[in-house]
Amino acid sequence: MTARVLVLGPTGTIGRAVVAALLADGRAAHCLLRPHHAGGSHGLPERAALHFGSVAGALTESGAEAVICCMASRSGSPADAWAVDHAATVAAIEAAQKHGAHFVLLSAICVQRPLLAFQHAKLAAEAALAASGLRYSVVRPTAYFKSLSGQVARLQAGKPFLLFGDGRLTACKPISDGDLARYLVGCLDDPDRWNRVLPIGGPGPAITPLAQGGMLFAALGLKPRYARVPVRMMDAIVGALALGGRVSGRLAQKAELARIGRYYATESMLVLDPETGRYDAAATPETGTETLEEFYARLARGELSVALGEHSVF
Ligand SMILES: NC(=O)c1ccc[n+]([C@@H]2O[C@H](COP(=O)([O-])OP(=O)(O)OC[C@H]3O[C@@H](n4cnc5c(N)ncnc54)[C@H](OP(=O)(O)O)[C@@H]3O)[C@@H](O)[C@H]2O)c1
Repeated sequence: MTARVLVLGPTGTIGRAVVAALLADGRAAHCLLRPHHAGGSHGLPERAALHFGSVAGALTESGAEAVICCMASRSGSPADAWAVDHAATVAAIEAAQKHGAHFVLLSAICVQRPLLAFQHAKLAAEAALAASGLRYSVVRPTAYFKSLSGQVARLQAGKPFLLFGDGRLTACKPISDGDLARYLVGCLDDPDRWNRVLPIGGPGPAITPLAQGGMLFAALGLKPRYARVPVRMMDAIVGALALGGRVSGRLAQKAELARIGRYYATESMLVLDPETGRYDAAATPETGTETLEEFYARLARGELSVALGEHSVF
């Protein structure tokens, strides 16, 4: 068993879940933190070993045999995506090369049809890893529960659930933080997950936004009410912001966020069949047991909350 693992991005949603999964497995979780967490704002478990400084330094200090990289741009802006999802990730791969560590990279299933800056940045990092000579696992998950929970407050305020088109333009197999974290940790000791790109969803079936709305209304005990947003309205918003973005950096950033929102309104988070150009639910592998329906029920009971950050646009 791989006993010592260095986690990059351990303070993010999935990074935290990975730390918990490593500790639950009886492995040592070494966490590399950015300096702003030095005051103790990280909220990581006491049993996690903390490191500050460089990836190379943390690998030497910890003697880790593997790296699980959950680092990601927090803003989603093109410059940040290239700085974090690409440049910082490639620097980490280079540091791991010197130590011969197995490198598990958290990517995203949406890179199959790359239209956004962060997707190109992630693809470039994936390519650098594949060319590195390291043992690697590239994990491309479907949608996270938090990204499908942005409308809870709207519904609680008596507003309708927003749908793009008829609410059946897309589908995904939502995956919980815990199930994804266990899958990432499972890459360490399973040769079937080595030197491969691994698309992964949660337990099926694939569900549409319309079905998600139904689940959320049922969990909240409210009568379903929907408002439909035509995709062409989103196109108009993206176009207007892009125009404004030519003269204002703030509007350019908003335009990229609007493009991201438009992308997820029209593209499924499922395996893409390169022959037909269609998303294929049956071909999308599944893992774990935790369902979005149970998650919504827990949200409705106030047992947990979601820090949405930039995901609030969805
Ligand atoms: N949302 C979805 O449905 C979905 C689906 C599939 C794939 N994904 C992918 O999953 C990945 C991780 O998502 P997440 O929600 O866990 O991310 P997150 O919560 O935003 O966490 C990002 C992590 O990266 C760290 N980080 C940010 N900038 C950094 C930098 N310059 N140097 C070092 N560390 C840095 C953050 O540290 P600080 O605490 O110091 O900021 C934090 O630990 C993303 O790549 C995303 O594209 C998301």
